[in-house]
Amino acid sequence: MCGIVGYTGSGRAVDFVLAGLEKLEYRGYDSAGIAYLDGGELRIVRAVGRVDDLRKKIPAEAARAHCAIGHTRWATHGRPTEINAHPHCDNKGRFAVVHNGIIENYAKLRTELEHQGCRFVSETDTEVAAHLIAKMHETMKDFPRAVERAIAVIEGSFAFAVLSTEHPGAIVATRRGSPLVAGFGRGEMLVASDALPIVPTTPDVFYLQDDQVIEVQAERIEMGGKPVQPSERIRWTAEDAERGGYEHFMLKEIYEQSGALRKLASKLIADPGTAGDPGTFPAFHLNGAPLSKDYLRGVSRVVVVAQGTSYHAGMIARNMIERTARVPVQVEYGSDFRYRSPIIDPSVLVLGISQSGETADTLGAVRLAKERGCKTLAVLNVQGSTMARESDGVVLMHVGPEIGVASTKAFTGQIAALYVFAIHFGILRGTLSAPEARRRVDDLLQVSIRVDEALAQNDHIKQVALKYKDAEHALYLGRGTGFPLALEGALKLKEVSYIHAEGIDAAEMKHGPIALIDEKMPVFVLALQGRRYDKIVSNIQEVKARGGRVIAIASHDDRAIEARVDDVIRVHDDRGIVNSIVCAIPLQLIAYHIAVALGRDVDKPRNLAKSVTVE
Ligand code: F6R
Repeated sequence: MCGIVGYTGSGRAVDFVLAGLEKLEYRGYDSAGIAYLDGGELRIVRAVGRVDDLRKKIPAEAARAHCAIGHTRWATHGRPTEINAHPHCDNKGRFAVVHNGIIENYAKLRTELEHQGCRFVSETDTEVAAHLIAKMHETMKDFPRAVERAIAVIEGSFAFAVLSTEHPGAIVATRRGSPLVAGFGRGEMLVASDALPIVPTTPDVFYLQDDQVIEVQAERIEMGGKPVQPSERIRWTAEDAERGGYEHFMLKEIYEQSGALRKLASKLIADPGTAGDPGTFPAFHLNGAPLSKDYLRGVSRVVVVAQGTSYHAGMIARNMIERTARVPVQVEYGSDFRYRSPIIDPSVLVLGISQSGETADTLGAVRLAKERGCKTLAVLNVQGSTMARESDGVVLMHVGPEIGVASTKAFTGQIAALYVFAIHFGILRGTLSAPEARRRVDDLLQVSIRVDEALAQNDHIKQVALKYKDAEHALYLGRGTGFPLALEGALKLKEVSYIHAEGIDAAEMKHGPIALIDEKMPVFVLALQGRRYDKIVSNIQEVKARGGRVIAIASHDDRAIEARVDDVIRVHDDRGIVNSIVCAIPLQLIAYHIAVALGRDVDKPRNLAKSVTVE
């Protein structure tokens, strides 16, 4: 939610910041702005719309600037207008501030500042911070200290980058709850909401902790007057975060899934075990999950906390963990769990699932669990994220940066990483025999091949999808693990195409939703041949009997289904839980092709932002 970039150094600061903002547009894209110093004067340029709209308004003289901050916005307080776009500044035009997050006590602070003579021009909470910092600076003339004093009275979540005419060449940056990372180049330093804008310049980064305040200069970064050193080296490259010839990031990321799953397996599976030897168990690299054997054996219950697509992966994980480790699993929206006074104790393992590791609600739930004495394990994609730092253990998915706002490869990566954890858990608890564990690992090692086969059907999937592009509504049905997939298929369709879609447990159809069926309603059915196949076939017949149009995602060897439905998309059915990964591919492609055909902005759907760092 909102992206921040700051640059100071020998290069053209405004160009760096604009390029960085373009990389952060997935975080918010309703307006954008930049502040830089030109001959000691603060210049601010803002625009409604995309970074490209801002770029068109930048004057030629901006090329002279060596220090700049910028922002791409996802509106919380105040409509997406030019006046509400960041940066915001104090009345004397000495301090410019960009902000990601929400200042919860802004109304009170605003009233106080107005009484002290500050004039507010925007509807934003951020403007409060600009006035506050300027006020604090008046008394102490120390830039980082002024920011420190300001954040001491601010409640809520924030990442700030601040520029001042009083301290040319310096950017002061801080965070609480919202992410911020600093990058160490040669004679140039950067700060940003995530590493994407930094990686083209340097892989060496420092992730700020809550309430840390840094002063960034071209040659050094300091905290409390002492030099700060990089804390991590980013392992992916700038090319990993480019579109690489694909029309959209979403399509690129859908296609990356087989490679990403191969990499995930190579990173997480240390030894698949020896076939034929009943005694050898597979082994895993789960060093990031330092939850001891004794601890895992004593776990009484697992509570999964997640939002959106990650929640759907959590629902699939419930089945995996219950089957393999025989531990009850409860799946919760972090947003609800954290406010419900949940019944948990230290024997409960809380599993946070998040692509970004920054989702405010999931993070809030993880923090609550820690306060209650639970151990927390996070399944994440972003290495240096807040959740990675705050959890007792981390399992990384290794699927590379996901830029498209609609989550695709992170979803299948989550399922695969959770599958590895479930097997590990089952082995440690003695509920999974060596041959069973090895079979599951083999399934996972095969899954990339099955994903490739599914991707190879892209043309057919597109043809099928386009038949339904003019539908106003769509239903997705599934049973068992097909149900979370139905939810995920519907979520993908609605977020990128804006077609209203609902995922329904097929067993629930008769309890109400069947009333929606008519000849205009496409119904996508997850119809693989598991234990519940006959029941799904009955659901298909019930839909057909009421004139609905059925598109089945069916097993490669299910010949009988053809006569029962309007369209079939086949995937290789290994009758195992990793089928969920394979079924996700056609669901993602259906949503993608329909959205493109409708002319939607697939990578940046309206009203959305990738990383939801506010509640
Ligand atoms: C949907 C989507 C969102 C996220 C959700 C959680 O395509 O991307 O529903 O899954 O906002 O985000 P993370 O996984 O970063 O916690």
